[in-house]
Amino acid sequence: MSISIKQALTEGQQFISQSDTAALDAELILLHALNAHRNILFTDPDKRLTQDEYALYQTLLQRRENGEPVAYIIGEQGFWDLMLNVAPHTLIPRADTESLIDWVLEQNVQPKRILDLGTGTGAIALALAKEFPGAQVIGVDLIPQAVELANSNKAKNNINNVQFFQSSWFENVPQEPFDLIVSNPPYIDERDEHLSQGDVRFEPASALIASQQGLSDLYLIARQAQEYLTQQGCLLMEHGWQQAQHVSDYLKQQGYVKVASGRDLAGQWRFSFGFKAQR
Ligand SMILES: C[S@@+](CC[C@H](N)C(=O)[O-])C[C@H]1O[C@@H](n2cnc3c(N)ncnc32)[C@H](O)[C@@H]1O
Repeated sequence: MSISIKQALTEGQQFISQSDTAALDAELILLHALNAHRNILFTDPDKRLTQDEYALYQTLLQRRENGEPVAYIIGEQGFWDLMLNVAPHTLIPRADTESLIDWVLEQNVQPKRILDLGTGTGAIALALAKEFPGAQVIGVDLIPQAVELANSNKAKNNINNVQFFQSSWFENVPQEPFDLIVSNPPYIDERDEHLSQGDVRFEPASALIASQQGLSDLYLIARQAQEYLTQQGCLLMEHGWQQAQHVSDYLKQQGYVKVASGRDLAGQWRFSFGFKAQR
């Protein structure tokens, strides 16, 4: 006997009750299995699932019960005002990273050339490209599948002023100066206990882990970015909540000026920035 949408939601929520967001997760997974819009939950809650829909729903619920993030299960995640495809080759964009976009907008400047290093899904590059339609944005990633994913998100969101290509940090980036270089690089220490907890267990090491207590990529970018910044150019980097002091000290050591840090939604110091040294 088939069950209704309403019953499926209750059943799903119970099945994945270990999740802190079981009700929302069950809803997103069910809508994905039905390939339906959220409206159906209100307009047709008694509609019966077909056998195939129910079987798919159960398979997806099992993946969630195994701890897999909902975004990987349904293949999508919202970021800023965009809907992005996600895949296990790179990080699922986080709401905390939106604080960097907020910070850029608060500066009241109109950057003409923007570079996003370690673009992943293209989240930062696409959000900035949309906010600054007159800007030329480049996003690079080491992982070719991430570049492919970012390109799919460019098409999905119909954003044209952005170009994605493969590069290990600055390696393939043309040395034409940028007004803004932004990055959310890997910054977790390989011994960090959080790596064995929650969503990050399913995300690739290439998006998470860096040597030197997680600081090596942040430092490398800080060292190399100056060569790629305009005179007034700014480097803005996300980092871990305990890394602000290290990163801002390093930026100052490298000669950046007006160095400071900013907070994420939870009030933690989660990004730092500096402007190109006056030479
Ligand atoms: C923390 S994720 C950030 C993804 C995306 N920018 C975001 O905020 O959601 C770091 C990204 O850096 C990329 N990455 C790691 N090493 C890299 C390298 N040497 N050069 C370029 N990208 C790299 C990873 O593939 C991953 O997509």
